[in-house]
Amino acid sequence: MGRKVLVIGAGGREHAIVRQLAQSPEDPIIFAAPGNPGTGVLAQNVDLDPLVPDDVVGFCRREAVDLVIIGPEDPLIEGLADHLHKAGFAVFGPGAQGARLEGDKEFAKEVLASAGVPTPHHHAFSSSRAALKHLDNIELPVVIKACGAAQGKGVAVCSNRDEAESFIRECLDDQRFGGAGLRILIEECIFGPELSVLVVTDGQSYCMLAPSRDHKRIGEKDTGPNTGGMGAFAPVDLPSDLHEEIDTRIILPVLAELRRRDIPYRGVLYAGLMLTESGPQVLEFNCRFGDPETQVVLPLLQEDFLELCVSTAAGKLGGYLQGLPGGGDNGPDDWPGAGMTDWKKHCVVVVGASDGYPGKYVKGKAIELPEPDESDRWIIHAGTTYSELGLVTSGGRVLGSVGTGASLSEARQAAYDLLNETHFEGLIYRRDIAVIGGESSG
Ligand code: GLY
Repeated sequence: MGRKVLVIGAGGREHAIVRQLAQSPEDPIIFAAPGNPGTGVLAQNVDLDPLVPDDVVGFCRREAVDLVIIGPEDPLIEGLADHLHKAGFAVFGPGAQGARLEGDKEFAKEVLASAGVPTPHHHAFSSSRAALKHLDNIELPVVIKACGAAQGKGVAVCSNRDEAESFIRECLDDQRFGGAGLRILIEECIFGPELSVLVVTDGQSYCMLAPSRDHKRIGEKDTGPNTGGMGAFAPVDLPSDLHEEIDTRIILPVLAELRRRDIPYRGVLYAGLMLTESGPQVLEFNCRFGDPETQVVLPLLQEDFLELCVSTAAGKLGGYLQGLPGGGDNGPDDWPGAGMTDWKKHCVVVVGASDGYPGKYVKGKAIELPEPDESDRWIIHAGTTYSELGLVTSGGRVLGSVGTGASLSEARQAAYDLLNETHFEGLIYRRDIAVIGGESSG
């Protein structure tokens, strides 16, 4: 019998994780908690609240689960991995100490400073009076961030004083983000294309998955408010010296700093970078797979994802990586774990969202999906559920249309063709996902 794996979460990222696990030659038994209609096709969905650790531990005991993969940040930040470890389960995902890199942006800045890693200058504030006074002494635009995790909505790029003042007041006075926004960072605004680097690590060894790019703004040409991500593509073609620079100036020192602080880390460290004229800088860290980046990075894997997760959770990633081939003719030499990825392949996801997102939107709209066709394109479920109408919308980001191909344009075409066969009332999407040169600053 195959291993039993429990995937925690209910979004597009978790559907992509389940889909990749289901391709393992080991033929694992997969549970998703709580999962979604997409995971339900490949796994058994289980009605568990990831924020109630005793229930998750109880389920793992009853089912003798071999591995738990924790998808979203909230249960990681709340220490679900620690509870599961204490109960003797193997977990892919850091404990609360490691997850602080995402849950506390001021702490992440402190780690970066100790590690000597480039990141925009910042000041932290808990009082709106002090924050507004600070605005008098700095140049705009600025980036203002809620220190805690705010579902991707706690960041504003403010180009004038009115915008900055209103976001500061929303965070510190109106408590729009609850506790997550009671302390803020005001950060220097830097410019360049963004890059997401997902690093799988057991704290000692690490491998970097294909670099990807997310399109965060709601509008084409990167206009309008930030979202959780409206589409992504991988791999991003980088100049060869940049691979080594990202590894040696950012990833290596941060992992060394975590070890120096005795912070164990088994899971994904997601570095959100900006490629500035003076080199890559860290905008943020996340303690989990990116969404939608996971939807384009995992399909490029040419090695067994289940084995990668199992060896990481067991602290045996080094041994696993030793057995891997190099990056091949198309892969970069200076990218640890390049052999995990098929660099000849490209993948694009275009997110289909509900009209109004990231603001208010209507749920419960019937969804018509194209016939399943797993060859080079497929639908990832994110905000979907079943009602008496059948499959309906239940979130802002409803689904991801994924296309693969031998070139970026082929992958892009496959993703858009599939999305054009997908219907629900109020479906919106960006038409410029994976258009190189279409991304701008922020
Ligand atoms: N795509 C951005 C994130 O996962 O946080």
